[in-house]
Amino acid sequence: MPEKFKRYTLTSALPYANGPIHIGHLAGVYVPADIYARYLRMKGEDVLFIGGSDEHGVPITIKARAEGVSPQVIVDRYHEQIKKSFEDFGISFDVYARTSAPVHHKTASDFFLKLYGENKFIEKTNQQYYDEKEHQFLADRYITGTCPHCGYEKAYGDQCENCGTSLSPLELINPKSALSGNVPVLKETKHWYLPLDQYEEWLEEWIIKGHKNDWKANVYGQVKSWIDHGLKPRAVTRDLNWGVQVPLKDAEGKVLYVWFDAPIGYISAAKEWSEKTGKDWKPYWKDEETKLIHFIGKDNIVFHCIIFPAMLKAEGSFVLPDNVPANEFLNLENDKISTSRNWAVWLHEYLNDFPGKQDVLRYVLTANAPETKDNDFTWKDFQARNNNELLAIFGNFVNRTLVLTQKYFDGVVPAVTELDKEAKTTLEEVKLFPGKIAQSLDRYRFREALSELMNLARLGNKYLTDMEPWRVIKTDEDKVKTILNVSLQIAANLAVLSEPFLPFTATKLQKMLGMEQPTWTDAGNTELIKPGSILNKPELLFDRIEDKEVEAQVQRLLDTKKENELAISSKLAKEEITFDEFMKTDIRTGTILEAKKVPKTKKLLKLKIDTGIDQRTVVSGIAEYYEPEKIIGQKVCILVNLAPRKLRGIESQGMILMAEDADGKLCFVSPTEDVSDGSEVK
Ligand code: MF3
Ligand code: ZN
Repeated sequence: MPEKFKRYTLTSALPYANGPIHIGHLAGVYVPADIYARYLRMKGEDVLFIGGSDEHGVPITIKARAEGVSPQVIVDRYHEQIKKSFEDFGISFDVYARTSAPVHHKTASDFFLKLYGENKFIEKTNQQYYDEKEHQFLADRYITGTCPHCGYEKAYGDQCENCGTSLSPLELINPKSALSGNVPVLKETKHWYLPLDQYEEWLEEWIIKGHKNDWKANVYGQVKSWIDHGLKPRAVTRDLNWGVQVPLKDAEGKVLYVWFDAPIGYISAAKEWSEKTGKDWKPYWKDEETKLIHFIGKDNIVFHCIIFPAMLKAEGSFVLPDNVPANEFLNLENDKISTSRNWAVWLHEYLNDFPGKQDVLRYVLTANAPETKDNDFTWKDFQARNNNELLAIFGNFVNRTLVLTQKYFDGVVPAVTELDKEAKTTLEEVKLFPGKIAQSLDRYRFREALSELMNLARLGNKYLTDMEPWRVIKTDEDKVKTILNVSLQIAANLAVLSEPFLPFTATKLQKMLGMEQPTWTDAGNTELIKPGSILNKPELLFDRIEDKEVEAQVQRLLDTKKENELAISSKLAKEEITFDEFMKTDIRTGTILEAKKVPKTKKLLKLKIDTGIDQRTVVSGIAEYYEPEKIIGQKVCILVNLAPRKLRGIESQGMILMAEDADGKLCFVSPTEDVSDGSEVK
């Protein structure tokens, strides 16, 4: 494919330094980015592959607060840990920076000042939520409430993680301070906004028209829907004391919004790299012949496809991304990966349990990557892909080839004696693989590329099985020379083509075959291994993963689930209230007289209750647990002095008391002895 580009700047989302890295991070962002970077380098392209820690923002300060330490302690700890995990897994960053670095503070602050100086911001004073107890404005994740779009009750002030919508705190229903649980008040404060609405037309041209065909459907679709809904000015500053200070006189106690400073971190990282290597960073960000590609997960799409490009456009001197191949999410054993619930496979723990098996995880995460939709990681699948694919196909072929060469020819590469039909067609096929793999990689289809790589191993396996050198050796040693030469050329091609995907395995195999560090032009060459050269002792590339190993992992997850349930049920009681406060509630015993499903709802039943005082209607969210017919006559406790509420057009006059367990299952709370309806519960 002819490229008009002279160099590549690849960025990978800067993970928040508030916890270790798990398989979701690796599958969504870093493995595909690394495959791409390695592939380009093998092609001899000029590549700057950027990574780093995102060390600002509320996720960091919340973690610091939870541990009772300063944010600096948190970011120092996790920056080092994350950096090491990436190294361990062979993620080949040219630089791994951090946004707490002075060069970043200066870069971000200068960027802001340039836009400020050119009047690219709007200055606005308005009312924002404030926690009076904590004396703090509640931006982003400091405030939670119900999502106005999907009803999810734990939506953050900046985003609903359930439906992905980006929010502002004022949109939340029932907002609560994440610090104290208090209901916040509104208070005036001044901030600077990037008027995204002014960039709408340009974004329309650039993405909607310009990238319809080359951006992934999941990315393009999300961006288009954002633009179609209309863009609004977005605040780029916050009232916080952790972050890059707003470099203006009247801005004390204000910092840049983390999503303003973090992507600038990619630029700062290039500067850091430049200081270390002595190379000029500028062409990598400013030359039109640079191809900029952002590798991210789907929750970052709006920031990399709309906000950051608008910032770059406003600044004016930087290149814009050519593509943003964002992935969807990876689940774990049918449940969303969650740091707070410890529902994850942590990279450092994986390496403890499966030392030396980095490539197995890289393989499974690529083969099963959430490229077009969310996907599920299961330990069974992990084991099956190792045993039935890596070991049975790739490993088995290489091992048979090397062991037979040792056995029949003392490890000296035999020459082709006669290129028969099978050898010829097989080698012709081998030559097609680099093209196929490259074509997939050029379009960011990593799963497809990996499956082609495995097809090459399959081809080798089939060739060996069909040719049966172990039988032929008895009658025709010359023919076996040809068979093993061909097989060795296939193995050598595997050693070249697997490098982007399985770098540890590739290196091992190259050593066994006595190869030099290959380049992409070696791929497809069917005379890579010279006759007469001596092979090194064969080692196994992969080994079997036993049932008990994956069962132990599954057991660990089950234990985690149990722990979480216990934690929920023994969760701290609510805040203390006074006796008088409690006495305000009027709870009575009653009986359900009628029960009907509320049409078009899943959860709601309309109940008629005899409260001893009167008969009244109550709408209750128990339809998933009780058939209406079966609860007629059920004794209940009912809160009778609750202000009436309308649900689905029905006025609900009170609330039935239910006990809810950790799984959310409900059950009635009712008197265990016979008491008449209307008895007070106190
Ligand atoms: N820290 C963010 C996250 O984990 C990603 C930041 S990417 C960058 O979701 F563009 F800001 F660098
Ligand atoms: Zn939502």
